[in-house]
Parts: sequence; structure tokens; C-alpha cells
Amino acid sequence: MARPTLHTDLCDIFGIEYPICLAGMGGIRFTPPELVAAVSEAGGLGVFGATGDEPEELRKRIRRVRELTDKPFGVDLLLPVVTGSLESDGVQVQPEAIRATLKREYPRHSEFVESLIGEFGLDEHRTERKLGGGGIALARKQVEVILEEKVPVFAAALGDPAWLVPDARDAGTKVMGLVGNVRNAARQVKAGVDVVVAQGTEAGGHTGRIATMPLVPQIVEAVKPLPVVAAGGIATGRGVAAALALGAQGVWLGTAFLTATESQIFDSQQRAVLDGRSEDFVISRSYTGKTARQHRNPIVQAWENAGLDPLPMPLQGMLMSDLSASAEKAGRHDLMFTPAGQASGLLDESRPAADIMASLVDEAVSVIDDLHSRISIS
Ligand SMILES: Cc1cc2nc3c(=O)[nH]c(=O)nc-3n(C[C@H](O)[C@H](O)[C@H](O)COP(=O)(O)O)c2cc1C
Repeated sequence: MARPTLHTDLCDIFGIEYPICLAGMGGIRFTPPELVAAVSEAGGLGVFGATGDEPEELRKRIRRVRELTDKPFGVDLLLPVVTGSLESDGVQVQPEAIRATLKREYPRHSEFVESLIGEFGLDEHRTERKLGGGGIALARKQVEVILEEKVPVFAAALGDPAWLVPDARDAGTKVMGLVGNVRNAARQVKAGVDVVVAQGTEAGGHTGRIATMPLVPQIVEAVKPLPVVAAGGIATGRGVAAALALGAQGVWLGTAFLTATESQIFDSQQRAVLDGRSEDFVISRSYTGKTARQHRNPIVQAWENAGLDPLPMPLQGMLMSDLSASAEKAGRHDLMFTPAGQASGLLDESRPAADIMASLVDEAVSVIDDLHSRISIS
């Protein structure tokens, strides 16, 4: 049977068949090359999250995706917020030094995290990797690789992509900028991005406060004629149709693709998404220090109950790194950070990405068609 048509201007901009993007989700387990390629092969835009990747590791991932598909795909980075000189380097610190500083400066927080390791019966496993961000120096090297490899699409979360837009244009790479409010959308327009992603608070991962329904039309108005892609809470064809009705030219889905069989998320984390209700996915600063929507696991609950305010980013992530490493070592993946959104309430089975894509398209087409028969207009 012929594939249905669901075409918007976004398809022409990216050279894709359907206006559906796999959201860039940081960490190899969330957006492995197999998942990225499967979404692109199914007619969407596969995007992988590469924040924190060493440049040569990133190059390998790009090339691996290219081995699996010759269709367009993208890379997403959480760009560091640049406050001063572009040359200022990120701080990478030995874990021992961080532990000592955190113990000295935040004794209550350090004791609390140690008590959690004991409370959950974990053997303490100390992370050996250096902690801290690579800062703008790493981001510049990553962007260099992305442009050298002529990746078709680059997505910038956080930060201001103005410094890379001219080079991206020269390399033929389209740039997307993620926003959660109108103020940041204006900054992305000024930076010269090609497409703006409007991410509502329902979304999994780091997220803002405005819901998708009021956010998308505001961003559409604020950035027109630039195309807008809607994100946050979309996991079905109905959601796709609703996003298009709000004025978006496409959608950007994270949580829905965590349930794909190609995802490498740990089984218990995928189960949490499949079995969880929308209200089980809450905003908390407990793992990263920045507001992120995630599964409300016992660790998130413990932070809530303790009444301790998590430290700001990146300190909280450093504080939690030994606990996360200990949980992983013990196979207690349910105690690890599981970013996912309210769309989890819509998802109850794990399927190949191609099937997820086909359902999104078929349902969106039939919903749009059905509107004509259900609603009388003159
Ligand atoms: C597991 C996970 C990891 C994420 N990591 C990133 C990231 O590294 N960079 C980014 O721009 N957004 C990240 N996000 C947000 C997604 O890009 C996207 O905006 C969001 O998933 C859309 O909402 P949805 O989860 O309701 O589909 C992440 C989301 C999830 C669920």
C-alpha cells in the first residue's frame, strides 16, 4: 500500500518525507545510532544528543549513523551559556577534588547523598571520570566536527548559537534552536536559526514552565515567517495533528521514542515510561540542579521529603555522580535519572521506531481527515 502523504514546508527544508523529528536526547543510551537511523529511514528526521561527547567520539557516531542510512539526520548539543569571552574554557575537575570541596562547602548535602547510598543498600562506587562541563571550548570542537562531517541539521538547546550560524550556513547545515518562552525565541531569531523548536513544560528532560498549548501559537507569532516545530507531550497522531493546528510545521518527540525497541535505555527505565501515568513524571532539580521533568523515583521523592534545596547546576550533578554510579553498578537502574515527559501516560508498548513513525503518520492523517467529517463549517 502506498505511504500516506503528510507534508509541510519543514519537509522541504530538511529534505524529509514526514515532519516528525526524533528529539536529540543526551547520552548514547537515549538516542543510539540505530534509533536515529531508523527514524530517518522511516521518513522522519533522526537526531542524536551529543552533549559531553569527546569530538572524536562524536565523529564516530556521525559516521555510524551514515553507515546505517543515507537519509538526513541531525545532532543536538546543549550549548554552554556564553557570558564573556568565547575562548573561556570549561572546568574539568578530578572527582576527588570535587568530593572534598562539596563535603567542605555543602556538608548537609554531601551527608544526605551518602545516607541515600546506605539507605538503598548500594555498595558505594566512586565515579572516576572527571566532572564538570567542557564549556565553550568543547562546544567549539564539537561544532567543528559536526560541520566538517556536513551533518544536515544541528539543534542547539540552551545557549546562543549566533557564533556558529555563519559557519553552519557555509557548510550547508540547517540550524534549529530550542526555546521554552517568547524571550528566548527572539534570541534564536537574532542568532539566525532556520527553525525554532517550541518546547512545552510537558516535555521530558530540562524544561520550562509554559505548556505546549499556549506556547506554540505564541512562538509561531513571535518568529514568523520562521517555521516552528512543536515539542512536549506529543506521542500520538492526534498530538501531531494538534501541533499542526497550533501553527507548527512539525513535531519533535523525545519520550515516545524512549519506548522504541532500538532505544538502549535500561529496561526498568523503559518500564517506568510504559507503565507510568502522566502525573508520575515531575519537575525536579534533584539529579542535575536544573529543572528537569523525570520519573518520580524513590531518589526524587527522598529529595522532596528531605526539604533540602538541590545545589545549582553543575554542582548537583557532581554531588549525585557517585550515587548514580553506585546505582548503575548495582543494576538499580530504577534509582537513576530517568528524564521523560507527561506523554508517558499515552504509551504502553515498546515497538520498532518504524512502527511508531507509521502510527504517528497514519493517525495524524486520519484525525485531520476526520475533522472534516465531524465538524461542520461554512
Ligand atoms: C531522556 C531525555 C533526554 C533529553 N536530553 C536532551 C538533550 O540532551 N538536549 C536537548 O536539547 N533536549 C533534551 N531532551 C528534551 C528533548 O529534546 C525534547 O524537547 C523533549 O523530549 C520533547 O518532549 P517529549 O519528551 O514530551 O516528547 C531530553 C528529553 C528526554 C526525555
